[in-house]
Amino acid sequence: MGKPASIFVCQSCGSVHGKWAGRCDACGEWNVLVEEIPSQNQPRKTGRRKSRGIDFVGLSGDAVDPPRLSTGIEELNRVTGGGLVPGSALLIGGDPGIGKSTLLLQMAGHMARSGLKTAYISGEEATAQVKRRARRLGLIDAPVNLAAETALGPILDGLMAEKPDIIIIDSIQTMWTDQLGAAPGTVAQVRACSQELTRYAKKTGACMLLVGHVTKDGQIAGPRVVEHMVDAVLYFEGDRAGQFRILRAHKNRFGPTDEIGVFEMGTTGLTEVENPSALFLDGRGEAASGAAVFAGLEGTRPLLTEIQALVAPAAFGTPRRAVVGWDSGRLAMVLAVLEARCGVSFGGKDVYLNVAGGLKISEPAADLAVAAALVSSVFDTPLPADCVVFGEISLSGDVRQASRTDARLKEASKLGFKRAIAAAIVAPASETKRRGNKKLVHQAEQLPILEISTLPDLVSRVQAMKDG
Ligand code: TYD
Ligand code: MG
Repeated sequence: MGKPASIFVCQSCGSVHGKWAGRCDACGEWNVLVEEIPSQNQPRKTGRRKSRGIDFVGLSGDAVDPPRLSTGIEELNRVTGGGLVPGSALLIGGDPGIGKSTLLLQMAGHMARSGLKTAYISGEEATAQVKRRARRLGLIDAPVNLAAETALGPILDGLMAEKPDIIIIDSIQTMWTDQLGAAPGTVAQVRACSQELTRYAKKTGACMLLVGHVTKDGQIAGPRVVEHMVDAVLYFEGDRAGQFRILRAHKNRFGPTDEIGVFEMGTTGLTEVENPSALFLDGRGEAASGAAVFAGLEGTRPLLTEIQALVAPAAFGTPRRAVVGWDSGRLAMVLAVLEARCGVSFGGKDVYLNVAGGLKISEPAADLAVAAALVSSVFDTPLPADCVVFGEISLSGDVRQASRTDARLKEASKLGFKRAIAAAIVAPASETKRRGNKKLVHQAEQLPILEISTLPDLVSRVQAMKDG
């Protein structure tokens, strides 16, 4: 007996294994198992006092919307569903250096100036570093309570004494509690600290914002385990080398999850981008083959982006399929439909697909834009520069109408586009006449649609553009 046996904890999903393996059986991630010595004194089972039981209520009655605290940053309010909810915990994840600390310090500054008691606890940087950033952001006069600390005990005591309304923990990976034997940054510590901090927020009604680093190789304890505990999860995306940053809600108990916030990183921090379509289309030159402008929707907001495709003869071996910003499975499907239904062959050709600006698109309506970019590249024929494309493709090669066509057309028209390639609006036979008339009126107000009902229609249109 004596020494307790080691356990191996997956740093990605948190599952516990008896022995080391290269791959976690539970989540399938590689190189994520880390040895931990279970501590002799397991964490006390807190909150196990004798209780009176629970009170049940019915489903009727008023469901009041939770109150919201404005973050002072419109794009952040949008992503959170209208602002921060008191008594909730929120995780902000993203690659190191993407701008999490910058955004939260800016938010802390705004909220403190609006009279809310705000605490910023930095576990990564010394107070001097945070102050230097505050000076750069023009926030030195904002009454933010700043501390550099990583030990959970003193932090909770300090919070209990100060009772801030807004608490920022930067980052959760640096926090540790002496109740556990595990090293800081391990899943056990991350989980225990998140749990304590989340419980503190629920108990006191404070807003708790946890910063979590995600690395692609999963070396640092993934904040995945934290996702289940918090009320909302926001992720920062974007190309770190470029200046655009996209904040996206992946989970939100108090709001929608499909909204995005768009920011631009400049010399004085993150600024909000009010018209993201213009930004994502910025720098588009002459119409080139292989490019199609996709009229997409991100939450409630229409967003135009350029989809670029390059189809080139494969130099040797297996042709490459490389995708940035879109789903590779979806690309394989579009390629297969183009081959099977339209006779466009991609065998022996490399296919590259890129969504401009570092945006990640998950909407099925992008299918048609991807197909248009691919066909345009294959025929080496540019699509009209004043044209947007959208529509979902089915395996049979049919093109289906995308949701909220009018919002997409309106945004395209606002940005100076003159036409759209999209699905024909199909109505049941009995309604065709009435709907058909209505459609004409409706389109006259917006953009004319070059109707495509099947993928072969698209291919023959692009072919016709090439020929004349
Ligand atoms: P930071 O917020 O520290 O990232 P994270 O907390 O996600 O690790 O942002 C770091 C990057 O942002 C760094 O490369 C410097 C850059 N930056 C600016 O370009 N402008 C600014 O005003 C600030 C504060 C940072
Ligand atoms: Mg940081």
